[in-house]
Amino acid sequence: MSDSLLERAAALQRAGAIREADAETLARDADIDVPRLMTLLLPLAAEYAKPPVSNFRVGCVSRGLSGALYLGTNLEFAGEALSFTVHAEQSSVTNAWTSGEEGIDLIAVNAAPCGYCRQFLNELVTADRVVVAMPNETRPLRELLPSAFGPRDLGIDGGLMQRANHELVADADDELARAALEAANMSYAPYSKAYAGVAIRTASGRIVSGPYAENAAFNPSMSPLEVALSRLNLAGEAFASIAEAVLVQSGTMHEEATRVVLRAVTQAPLRVVQARNSR
Ligand code: THU
Ligand code: ZN
Repeated sequence: MSDSLLERAAALQRAGAIREADAETLARDADIDVPRLMTLLLPLAAEYAKPPVSNFRVGCVSRGLSGALYLGTNLEFAGEALSFTVHAEQSSVTNAWTSGEEGIDLIAVNAAPCGYCRQFLNELVTADRVVVAMPNETRPLRELLPSAFGPRDLGIDGGLMQRANHELVADADDELARAALEAANMSYAPYSKAYAGVAIRTASGRIVSGPYAENAAFNPSMSPLEVALSRLNLAGEAFASIAEAVLVQSGTMHEEATRVVLRAVTQAPLRVVQARNSR
């Protein structure tokens, strides 16, 4: 039963997203509720894992406020600093965010989220209501991260996944650069103001973009290339399919790290476009 559920879910998902109506149909047909469905879908999410260092596959499923579900999985970059690793929770949350969600209320993971991920989730605009379903227990994020340090401590209202448009402008005269600029405009950088986005074009012509996502504790931030690679992976594309990448940034802070991580997965060239504030 569960096998056919996973097969149906695999056929229904698009780039790691399952629409609310499809999630409800899958749950109803299996005679379970959506939170239970999310847990049963974790092996599907974990199939996308790319963990050459640890061989530890993490699957995650988030529910956006629209009711749609978003898969996420971990990515490791062999031979590079471990700090570039994308955790499954980050992958799932940024999948929801870049799909237009404005918050998540439930997140299921096949292993207890590490401290870094609890801190990453604490940045969410919906952090006060996020519930985390783990293998043996389900608990609110607030219980998993007591006495938390977050955006409010640095004087920031709101949080990650809140809609934004920074109204940056750049000489973006092709589709790829425009996609990167659009990602930069929705990026979340309340601490550094170093708004940035990356867009990747594959050999088949697919374009996938990623906005930068900061954290109040700085370290669990996610670079725009990491977000884009996570989305590309969930779309079922191999990193070998990357033909070109563009980074649109305000300031200069993203260029070096973007080059390092891009070179870890492909020989494809990186174009860097400077953005300016239009306001
Ligand atoms: N990992 C996650 O994806 N989420 C967690 O919260 C625990 C750790 C990944 C990171 C790394 O790829 C591997 O598991 C071993 O730590
Ligand atoms: Zn983690």
